[in-house]
Amino acid sequence: MTRSLLSLFDISSEELSSILQLIEGYKKKITNREDLTSLQSTVLGLLFEKPSTRTRTGFETAIHRLGGEALYLQTDNLQASRGEPIKDTARVLGSYLDGIIARVYAHDTLCQLEKYAAIPVINALSDLEHPTQVISDIFTLRELKHDLSGLTLAYIGDGNNVCNSLIIGTALTGIQMRIACPKGYEPHAEIIQRARALQEDSGASLSITREPSEAALEADVLYTDVWVSMGKEKEQGKRLRDFRGYQINEDLVKKASPDAIAMHCLPAHRGLEITDEVIEGSQSVVWQQAENKLHGAAGILAFFIHPKRGVKNP
Ligand code: CP
Ligand code: NVA
Repeated sequence: MTRSLLSLFDISSEELSSILQLIEGYKKKITNREDLTSLQSTVLGLLFEKPSTRTRTGFETAIHRLGGEALYLQTDNLQASRGEPIKDTARVLGSYLDGIIARVYAHDTLCQLEKYAAIPVINALSDLEHPTQVISDIFTLRELKHDLSGLTLAYIGDGNNVCNSLIIGTALTGIQMRIACPKGYEPHAEIIQRARALQEDSGASLSITREPSEAALEADVLYTDVWVSMGKEKEQGKRLRDFRGYQINEDLVKKASPDAIAMHCLPAHRGLEITDEVIEGSQSVVWQQAENKLHGAAGILAFFIHPKRGVKNP
C-alpha cells in the first residue's frame, strides 16, 4: 500500500518511534560510508517550488547513499510553470517515478500530487507543515536529551509551518510545548485542536503566550525559526515590526534551564529571530540539527519508499 507523509498527523507515535530507530541505524551506516542498497533501482523526484539548501541536499544525498536515483524537478522548468495543471503533472510523474519529495507553497498542491500520482509523496515543506524537519529535530532531541517525555520546549516567534509540525511532534512524544508569538501570528487553529487528542495520550501539553520570557522560563529547549517565511516576503516590513522582542538572545537563554539547548531549523537571520552570540554559543545545537536532516531523510525514505523488487528485465 502506498503511504505518504504530508502531515505529521499521518503517523502514529509508534510509527514515529520506528522511523527514529531507522534514522539511528542509517546515521551510523552513512557516517561509516557503508555501501547501502535499500533504494536500489528506485527513482525519486524532488519537485521544488521554493529554494532549499538542507532539505533538498539532505534528501538527494540520502537517496544516493541508499543506492537510488534522485531527479531534481524545479517547477520553474516544468510545464506546470506554463499552466499545466498539477493533477496532470502528478499523473505523469506517478507513472515514471517511485516517489515524490515536494516543497510547495500551497499545502493543497501536495494533496493533489498524492491523489493523482498514486505513489508516495513526502512533504518537504508547505505553507502548513514541515514534517521532515520535525522528525529529524525529534531525533536530535532524543540524541541530546534522551527521554523526551516531560521535556519543555519553548518556541519563540512565528506560528508557522515549522511551529505547526512541532505542535504535532511534541504531542506525539509527550513534550510540553510553550509558544510565544505576537497576536495574529498564532499557529493553525485546526492543528492545535487535532493535537489535543494526541497530547492526552502522550501526556504532552501546549500553551500559547505573548511573553517570550514566560515561555522560556526553565525550558529545556529554545527553538525559533525565521520571522518571514518563504511566500511571506510582501509582509516583511510589518513582520519585522511585529516580531521585535521575539528574539532568542543571551537574556532569554539565561531564563531557560542552565543546560537548555538552542535550536533553529535554519536558514537563520542573525540579529533578528536569534543573535549571533546564541547561534555560535555553547548551547546552540543547530549544526547537529542540520546534519541530522540527512539521516532523517534516510530514515523517512526507508519507511515510506518501498522499491519494487523482482521486476524482470524485458
Ligand atoms: N530547514 C530547512 O528546511 O532548510 P532548507 O530550506 O535549506 O531546506
Ligand atoms: N518557516 C520557514 C522554514 C524554512 C526552512 C519557511 O517556510 O520559509
